[in-house]
Amino acid sequence: MAELTLAVLISGRGSNLQSLIDACAKADFPARITLVISNEPGAKGLERAAAAGIPHQTINHRDFDSRDAFGDALGNAIKDSGAGLVCLAGFMRILDSGFVNQWHDRMINIHPSLLPAFPGLHTHLRALEAGVRFAGCTVHYVRDGLDSGPIIAQAAVPVHPGDTPDSLAERVLAAEHRVYPLSVRLIAEGRVTVNNETTLIDASAVPVTVLLNPQEG
Ligand code: GRF
Repeated sequence: MAELTLAVLISGRGSNLQSLIDACAKADFPARITLVISNEPGAKGLERAAAAGIPHQTINHRDFDSRDAFGDALGNAIKDSGAGLVCLAGFMRILDSGFVNQWHDRMINIHPSLLPAFPGLHTHLRALEAGVRFAGCTVHYVRDGLDSGPIIAQAAVPVHPGDTPDSLAERVLAAEHRVYPLSVRLIAEGRVTVNNETTLIDASAVPVTVLLNPQEG
């Protein structure tokens, strides 16, 4: 099967981008990153792309009159890169519906909650306030609605007594770094099918426990 090519969109730190860079560096990983785009000039993730020798650019949303024009500029850069899958990795802009529809089933996002619980911002604070016993993260195909779309993989982590939003975020982030490369691998291997807005995963090569809740190692 041909290698899947990725465009990764970021806004900041880029630790999820780093998890994809590290995965793609492994000889048996069926994907590679052709372009990293940040909407924020000076994002740390751009340095990570540079260090890995990956083409990267800033497309600053403030330079555009409308969300659509920003989306067009993103779309053109992604198409020029030849990427087959768009990975949102801490990308903090809402994309216009034209862009979202253009990349239907070819754009994924990682969100730091067990969706459909806690879409949007401040997920860890809201999870703690709600008193949930498990938090986690979700990788999903992107649809035209905040943090919505068919779920590909999730990982749960426990909430400990005394957790703060920061301590919980750290535990969830470690899970994010496992679940995002796993999701890309499943897609690249052709194991993910969208059916009635839910996904079917051909997990014949992946133990079901890994798929449900990937652990370290
Ligand atoms: C992650 O928690 C991601 O799930 C959320 O924003 C954060 C980005 O972190 N959408 P990083 O930039 O990947 O380090």
